[in-house]
Amino acid sequence: MVPIILWLWLTTTASVAASPQSRPGCQESCGNVVIPYPFGIGANCSFDEGFVVTCNDTFNPPKPFIKSMNLEVLQISINGTVQVNNPVITSNCPGRTNGLDLFLEFPFSFSDTYNRFTAMGCNNLALITRQDTIITGCMSICNVSSTLQTGCFGISCCQTTIPPFLKFINASLRSIDPNKDQNDCKYAFMVDYQWFRDKDIYATRDMEYVPAVLDWTINGTCINGTNSSTGSFCSANAYCSRNQMWSSRCYCESGYEGNPYLPSGCQDIDECAEPSLNRCERFCLNTPGGYNCSCPGGYLSFGYSCLKLPNNNSRTKVIVLGTCSGLGVLLLLLGGWWLRQEVNRRKETKLKEKFFKRNGGLLLQQQLLSDKGNLETAKLFTSKELEKATDNYNCNRILGHGGQGTVYKGMLTDGRIVAIKKSKILDEGKLGQFINEVVILSQVNHRNVVKLIGCCLETEVPMLVYEFIPNGTLFHYIREQSEEFPLSWDLRLRIASEVAGALSYLHSAAAIPIYHRDIKSTNILLDEKYRAKVSDFGISRSISEDQTHLTTKVQGTFGYLDPEYFQSSQFTDKSDVYSFGVVLVELLTGEKPILPPRLEECRSLASHFILSMEENRLIDILDSRVRKEGGKEEILAVANLANRCLDLNGKKRPTMREIVIALDRIRFPNDTSTIKQRCKEDEGADEFAGPWEATSTSTDSFFGVSVSTTSTLLFEKSS
Ligand SMILES: *[C@@H]1O[C@H](CO)[C@@H](O)[C@H](O)[C@H]1NC(C)=O
Ligand SMILES: *[C@@H]1O[C@H](CO)[C@@H](O)[C@H](O)[C@H]1NC(C)=O
Ligand SMILES: *[C@@H]1O[C@H](CO)[C@@H](O)[C@H](O)[C@H]1NC(C)=O
Ligand SMILES: *[C@@H]1O[C@H](CO)[C@@H](O)[C@H](O)[C@H]1NC(C)=O
Ligand SMILES: *[C@@H]1O[C@H](CO)[C@@H](O)[C@H](O)[C@H]1NC(C)=O
Ligand SMILES: *[C@@H]1O[C@H](CO)[C@@H](O)[C@H](O)[C@H]1NC(C)=O
Ligand SMILES: *[C@@H]1O[C@H](CO)[C@@H](O)[C@H](O)[C@H]1NC(C)=O
Ligand SMILES: *[C@@H]1O[C@H](CO)[C@@H](O)[C@H](O)[C@H]1NC(C)=O
Ligand SMILES: *[C@@H]1O[C@H](CO)[C@@H](O)[C@H](O)[C@H]1NC(C)=O
Ligand SMILES: *[C@@H]1O[C@H](CO)[C@@H](O)[C@H](O)[C@H]1NC(C)=O
Ligand SMILES: *[C@@H]1O[C@H](CO)[C@@H](O)[C@H](O)[C@H]1NC(C)=O
Ligand SMILES: *[C@@H]1O[C@H](CO)[C@@H](O)[C@H](O)[C@H]1NC(C)=O
Repeated sequence: MVPIILWLWLTTTASVAASPQSRPGCQESCGNVVIPYPFGIGANCSFDEGFVVTCNDTFNPPKPFIKSMNLEVLQISINGTVQVNNPVITSNCPGRTNGLDLFLEFPFSFSDTYNRFTAMGCNNLALITRQDTIITGCMSICNVSSTLQTGCFGISCCQTTIPPFLKFINASLRSIDPNKDQNDCKYAFMVDYQWFRDKDIYATRDMEYVPAVLDWTINGTCINGTNSSTGSFCSANAYCSRNQMWSSRCYCESGYEGNPYLPSGCQDIDECAEPSLNRCERFCLNTPGGYNCSCPGGYLSFGYSCLKLPNNNSRTKVIVLGTCSGLGVLLLLLGGWWLRQEVNRRKETKLKEKFFKRNGGLLLQQQLLSDKGNLETAKLFTSKELEKATDNYNCNRILGHGGQGTVYKGMLTDGRIVAIKKSKILDEGKLGQFINEVVILSQVNHRNVVKLIGCCLETEVPMLVYEFIPNGTLFHYIREQSEEFPLSWDLRLRIASEVAGALSYLHSAAAIPIYHRDIKSTNILLDEKYRAKVSDFGISRSISEDQTHLTTKVQGTFGYLDPEYFQSSQFTDKSDVYSFGVVLVELLTGEKPILPPRLEECRSLASHFILSMEENRLIDILDSRVRKEGGKEEILAVANLANRCLDLNGKKRPTMREIVIALDRIRFPNDTSTIKQRCKEDEGADEFAGPWEATSTSTDSFFGVSVSTTSTLLFEKSS
């Protein structure tokens, strides 16, 4: 009796003391809203100024507000969102004031997953604009005689999704037909669509505020695996996920729960206390991050279940019984094993077929078959072949973790060494990206582009097989140069020229223009002769000739990302040029694209470089080997070229083809025939090479010094 009471007492007190949500000594909630850290009531209770919440006691119950924007908080999720009361914007409505633009302060932005921009009214064209650019919008018409609709489907009410990282609503409400009366009453608001779904839309219209969901992040970079000594702000037993904008979120690891932003906020989940969380047949033993099962005496623990051991009172009986039942069990096991094998074999074949289909295998097979020329270059591997090649995906075969997956080194049965990329992604939305990579790479045939040997679609995650490039990435090479092959000035120029050649080919010579979209030094591999090979086409996408740009969700690697693309979401060939410019600067300076915090004034290498050029301090930032080996004019010419590539205005940047010619001019100043010869070589090597009319154009203008005057703080907007 006593132990049971004690146990009850212990468990109840434990759950009462369940993980706190705020900092010690801080107010836990305001009215009905729990305020978890990093939010906090009062200055020292929040992570920083942006998360300060004020609790207004004049309301009953009291209401919390985000101090920086004076928005009422409805609910805070520790997963990185906050639901706020957001004003309805009106125009010409009786009893309401017009206008009300809304701006969000750092670290908040409208969540593109939860919000819809919604407009109401007859003949209403509602747009979110910024500096005359339309970001998004929708229109609603109205027909009094048709009153059947009950939702928001374009009649009297329209809705649209919004782009990510939107920080303002500057709404313009006008009539669709400019000749009609402009003075109708019109409404627009950003709204949490889950909330709105269940509401009477006409009732919503008369509200002054509606709920909207904001995303929040922490301003800072965190390190996976915690420890405040290493600069992370995540709890122990939490991992951090960092997006490209220097902002991060923390999540408790599986088996832990709580507030991952408090020093020891992630607490072990006691799986044993909750029957639905564990599968133990008898006793359950909680362990940090998991649980173990055990059995009472006389039983053998077997996974989650317990097997009864034979009683040893009469020995002979046990032996007879034991051997008989042993034999029986053995037979049963054998039979079961055989059956299982058979079932598994069938299941596996079915699964393989399913994966093959789901992974777009049929589509790809068709694509490859329809194009006879590429059939030899891209081969469809079976999962068996790849398992053998990688020794069952042995850990010590891992070459690295790339942007979208893990890369293994493997050996095919014919002795060829290959790199096998196993994608991380499982969701079908991203399969397009994968098929994309296969199709693009099977079209490309260039000596400075990593060659695709084939792929395997029978596994759960699709896999790509590439030629193996032995000498690592340019990024590593810049940092760890070997004794016998130092990264000389000539080699740097050659690598730059080779990469430029490959990109120029992708942009203009291939059958359809291909933008790489993620040029960076870690995506430039080096072979045994230190020739550059461009790799990782995961997010590249070919476009047809009549389109000049693509509008997509911003993707890429921070530090290399074209600021123009970042602002407009329109990816052009000049965005690749920008990234290439950053690689050129890396080659010149030996620095990483994102500078360590000591150079506080600008954290991106690109803006640091532009600033140095402006202030005539180029010599200070050059790599010592470049300074020693490069001719002054050569260095200046390359630096000017890089500067042009990094121009904020994409139109002013040179094309990739112009860069190739400029680099060749720098490498072979006396030799006019080289450039033409190079082009001939390219034409010979590549089936898709087109005419190279640019060979005859003048290139003198490249060397004119045109230092751009706007330079620093390119990424001000990102924070
Ligand atoms: C906040 O913390 C700082 C430094 O830890 C301290 O100097 C200051 O007095 C604190 N303010 C309040 C209101 O507790
Ligand atoms: C609380 O709300 C009332 C009514 O909106 C307002 O007048 C008052 O200034 C607020 N108090 C604080 C401390 O913000
Ligand atoms: C946070 O996300 C996890 C997993 O996605 C989910 O289980 C949990 O309920 C979420 N928490 C909140 C407060 O939304
Ligand atoms: C908001 O819109 C108005 C009129 O459309 C415009 O004058 C103003 O510059 C815009 N503000 C921003 C930040 O785009
Ligand atoms: C409104 O609906 C009626 C019938 O439902 C139709 O005859 C009329 O053309 C519609 N008006 C407009 C402007 O669409
Ligand atoms: C945290 O730091 C302590 C001492 O500084 C160290 O012993 C421990 O291994 C660290 N833990 C992690 C996960 O880095
Ligand atoms: C941290 O770990 C998570 C999963 O463990 C991973 O998804 C994420 O990319 C890692 N982030 C960094 C910055 O290494
Ligand atoms: C739980 O089980 C694992 C594997 O069976 C074992 O390695 C571990 O030591 C056990 N943990 C405890 C606390 O018994
Ligand atoms: C069974 O025999 C073993 C050794 O032979 C002994 O240690 C154990 O206590 C016996 N069990 C029972 C239930 O008698
Ligand atoms: C690069 O290749 C050369 C020649 O094959 C070899 O000697 C050198 O060790 C390689 N370097 C690296 C970093 O793999
Ligand atoms: C290029 O020409 C200049 C003068 O015209 C000469 O000094 C230089 O040695 C030549 N360089 C090469 C590599 O031929
Ligand atoms: C982010 O943090 C850095 C350094 O802590 C600070 O300089 C910067 O102003 C912060 N950004 C914002 C928008 O608060």
